[in-house]
Amino acid sequence: MADYIPDNLFLQDALTGLAQPQPEIPSKYLYDELGSMLFEAICVTPEYYVTRTDLEILDRHLPDISACIGPRAHVIEFGSGAGVKTSHLLASLEQPAAYTPIEISAAALEASAAHLQRQFPALRIQPLAADYTQPIAPADLDICTDCQTRVVYFPGSTIGNFTLDQARHFLRRIQAIISAFLPEIRGGLLIGIDLLKPLEVLLPAYADPAGVTAAFNKNLLARMNRELGSDFVLSQWSHAARFNSEHQRVEMHMVSERTQQVQLGGQTFSFAAGDSIHTENSHKYSLRGFSEMAARAGLKLEQHWTDANGWFATCYFVPQEPN
Ligand code: AVJ
Repeated sequence: MADYIPDNLFLQDALTGLAQPQPEIPSKYLYDELGSMLFEAICVTPEYYVTRTDLEILDRHLPDISACIGPRAHVIEFGSGAGVKTSHLLASLEQPAAYTPIEISAAALEASAAHLQRQFPALRIQPLAADYTQPIAPADLDICTDCQTRVVYFPGSTIGNFTLDQARHFLRRIQAIISAFLPEIRGGLLIGIDLLKPLEVLLPAYADPAGVTAAFNKNLLARMNRELGSDFVLSQWSHAARFNSEHQRVEMHMVSERTQQVQLGGQTFSFAAGDSIHTENSHKYSLRGFSEMAARAGLKLEQHWTDANGWFATCYFVPQEPN
């Protein structure tokens, strides 16, 4: 093959991913404008308990949660999406000082920032269109001189998308962000964790009978066709959600229904019937396992809240005191 140096990161990631023994595409590419809308639709399917439960825990324990965070907070949200939970959180905080939503989908970011600004006219809002899996320049977060707490908000169990290594690394980055101005400015991490639960509940949440999750997953192939000029025949791929018990995670795959070839970026990729492209991981944790991982990143579990079924946990971590 001729030297071909892609200048497009999506193309580069897709070519690298499809060349793996188990072909894969990084899950962050699921969230273009249509993908973000389809994800919002997943959130209202009856099978997807995650968003509902997260919001229910938040609403029930808002007084406790805002007491933990304290007054004059600078809220930094990773993957802000539609910002529904954030609006509930901000409304209950005592004199929130500033809000930085960080979101890869520029369209979703703009809409939610504008909406929140209308709801909270006095709040300093500085949206950041960025891939939060990449390092964030400290200056981009530096909008708050008079705040008392820097709190990273990472709801929805989005951390479940990361492998354990990535999650550990990510928690260390958050620890650094919330510790940057200690002791003058306190730090906290308010994070949602999806807990291990029976597969009868878990799997339908990722394979709803109305096919919304399937459409969300298939949009990734459609997006590659649109943006990268690949030629996936969409009718020859189907959605699958599988539990990987070794890694304690739900995996989404697009499964090839027949022998076929796909062209992308001047390369040909061959698939047999049943071969798949792994498109997303959704790790499930025990509270104990997650806290141990966070502890290795310098974070101490201060308080946590859960639902009656014990399906989801909202946790407040603070920087561990050096010993
Ligand atoms: C946005 C990563 C939390 O893993 O539950 C939902 C994404 N994928 N259905 C999840 C998702 C398929 C979701 N997160």
